[in-house]
Amino acid sequence: MSSVDVPREQWATRIGFIFAAVGSAVGLGNIWRFPFQVGQEGGAAFLLIYLLFILLIGFPAMLVEFVVGRYTERNPVGALQAIGSGLWQYVGWIFIVTTFVILSYYSVVAGWTIRYTLLGLQDGYLADASEAEVQFVDLATGLDAIAFHALFMAIVVVIVAYGIQHGIELAVKVMVPAIIIITVGMAIYAFTLEGASEAYAYYLSPEWGTITAEWTSILPAAAGQAFFTLSLGMGVMITYASYLGEDRNLAEDGAIIIGFDTTIAFITGLIVFPILFTAGVDPADPGAGAIFVSLAAAFGDLTLGWLIGALFFGTVAVAALSSAISLLEVVISYLIDERDISRRTATFGVGVALFLLGIPSASDLVLLDLFDLFADQVLLVLGGLLLMILIGWSLPDLAVEELELGIGDLDSLGSAWIWAVRIPVVLVLFVALALGVLDYYE
Ligand code: PHE
Ligand code: NA
Repeated sequence: MSSVDVPREQWATRIGFIFAAVGSAVGLGNIWRFPFQVGQEGGAAFLLIYLLFILLIGFPAMLVEFVVGRYTERNPVGALQAIGSGLWQYVGWIFIVTTFVILSYYSVVAGWTIRYTLLGLQDGYLADASEAEVQFVDLATGLDAIAFHALFMAIVVVIVAYGIQHGIELAVKVMVPAIIIITVGMAIYAFTLEGASEAYAYYLSPEWGTITAEWTSILPAAAGQAFFTLSLGMGVMITYASYLGEDRNLAEDGAIIIGFDTTIAFITGLIVFPILFTAGVDPADPGAGAIFVSLAAAFGDLTLGWLIGALFFGTVAVAALSSAISLLEVVISYLIDERDISRRTATFGVGVALFLLGIPSASDLVLLDLFDLFADQVLLVLGGLLLMILIGWSLPDLAVEELELGIGDLDSLGSAWIWAVRIPVVLVLFVALALGVLDYYE
């Protein structure tokens, strides 16, 4: 039987969809990327702009992706072909490319988290920062990194191969509650640490001077991070919403998902900064790897640090897993819908391709940082921007009508949403893209 005869898959339950979307949203972006962005972009000043962008940009943009997915019941490429004309038809391809690039290095970083979980359980962490650094470089690149990248990719492939209900939905129902419980527990633990009050001050009181002096770097970083953390600009939310059978209240679902993602990111700050300050580590150290080094060194310094560290890195690994499956599903849904390839064959083939594409990032940290910067500040914002222009300016009626299904007549709410998409979302993404491109070429 060819896959044409098989009905398209759907979520079994409402909570299944929400968990899957929360699982996608909560990931390395919250627990790895967010704290080092805060550190790099000036602490609380960044946090503030970020929170503003989540509400002003992230929420409307998420609803756009939901509406497109549910309306078309298609993968991002098929969805854009269905609603776009002319060149707009091809915007879906940007999503596929972005997904590929991001997942390739995301899996490498996720591999480090597995490695660091085992490291704590086996040998404990090194308290000396320069020794920890040497160890990180050793573990984060080369054969070790490639092996754990392969392991992580293999787990992702197995889950996605089982499909929507028996793979993704089942997995997230276990993973998401676990992530929430452990993060909250760790924040309570971090509250008891000696460096907590100094850390809270750094994290929570913005210096206005920083915002005015550095807005050209804070703005694209905060916009990119808002999109990245909510899994936007990659077609993930289009794909997940395409498996919604019934017309539910998308605004409510979106608010719940954003609430969880933002809370987990915020709580992570309450964990990471007290740990760093207690161990006397500078949170402003830049770069993707630095947070591993600083945290590992800090865990090496704390009582029972090996256990707390293993728990922390283990949680990060699980969070990364529930995000990575959503990224892979974007490509798989395209291959199933449009190319008539079976789910098993598609997941295995793409998994191997992604493994190969990740090898450069697993070999050289400079390349990984470049992939991350390019994907986050250029590709993702570009795909998002084009989708927002298309929906906001050329298909607003279709969008509002679709959003109203499951909510009832929105009247002013629907048009407020479309105007948010048309002006602030498009404007911020445009400025972020321009600054991001400049930043990338610097
Ligand atoms: N939202 C995820 C995170 O915060 C990252 C991600 C981006 C996942 C895009 C899927 C798609 O880690
Ligand atoms: Na996130």
